[in-house]
Amino acid sequence: MAGTMIGVIGGSGVYDLDALEDRCWTAVDSPWGTPSDEILTGRLDGVPMAFLPRHGRGHVHAPSSVPYRANIDALKRLGVTDVLSVSACGSFREEMAPGDFVLVDQFIDRTFARDKSFFGTGCVAHVSVAHPTCPRLGAACSAAARDAGLTLHEGGTYLAMEGPQFSTLAESRMYRDVWGADVIGMTNMPEAKLAREAELCYASIAMVTDYDSWHPEHGAVEITDIVRTLTGNAEKARALVGRLPARLGADRAPCPHGCDRALDHAILTAPGQ
Ligand code: ADE
Repeated sequence: MAGTMIGVIGGSGVYDLDALEDRCWTAVDSPWGTPSDEILTGRLDGVPMAFLPRHGRGHVHAPSSVPYRANIDALKRLGVTDVLSVSACGSFREEMAPGDFVLVDQFIDRTFARDKSFFGTGCVAHVSVAHPTCPRLGAACSAAARDAGLTLHEGGTYLAMEGPQFSTLAESRMYRDVWGADVIGMTNMPEAKLAREAELCYASIAMVTDYDSWHPEHGAVEITDIVRTLTGNAEKARALVGRLPARLGADRAPCPHGCDRALDHAILTAPGQ
C-alpha cells in the first residue's frame, strides 16, 4: 500500500503549522511558475505533511494573483496525495454563523481572471469535476473536526468569486436566493479543478467569517470584522489539521472515488503529439 502525504493550503490567517515535527521550509520549483511561498514539510503522527500558505507569509498574493497552478504542481512534486484547503468564507445561511466551519462539497465557479488548467497547449484533457471534492478525505476531515470540538456543517456549495472587492447586495441576494449557494469565497477555484487534473484528492474546509452583505441585521462585510473572526479561529483550524493525520492514516489505498485516476480516460490528444 502506498503512503499518504497530506498537503495543507492555508488561507488568510493560517500562515504556519507550528505542530509539525522535523520542520523544513523548502523552495520548490515548478514549470508553472513560482508557488505562493516556500513549502513547510514535516510529519504529524507519523504522516508526512506539506504546508503552503496560499497568500504567502506576509499575505502578498491577492486572490486573483495566487499562482494556483504552481501551488498544486509543487505539492504534487513533493509527493502529496491529499490536499486540504483551509480558507475564510462569507455565509449565505443564518445557521452557518461566524466562527463555524463548513465542509464544502460543491462549487459555483464565477472566477474569470485566472489560469484554470494544466492542459490546452500540446495536450488536451477534460476531467470530470461533477463531484469536485474527495468523500474519503472529507470524511477524515469531519472526524478530525469532531475530535477538535469544532462546529462543522457537513456539505455546502461554495460560490467562488473573482474579487478582490466583496459582492454587491444584489449579487449577494442572487447567489443566496436564486443560485442556492451556501458560502462565498475568492480562492477555492481554480484550486479544486487543478487538484483533480493533478489526480490529487481535495477537500475544502471553509471558516465562516461574516454574513456577506445579504443579512439585514449585519450590514456590509468589512475586512476588519473578517480579520477579527479569523484571528479568533485560526487556532481551531490548526486543531483540525493536527487531528487529520491520525484520521487519514499513513497507509493509503487507491482513492475509492477515483480522484487519483482522474486522467485515465480524460486525455484526447494522441500519444506522441
Ligand atoms: N472571504 C471571507 N468572507 C468573504 C465574503 N463575504 N466574500 C468573499 N470572500 C470572503
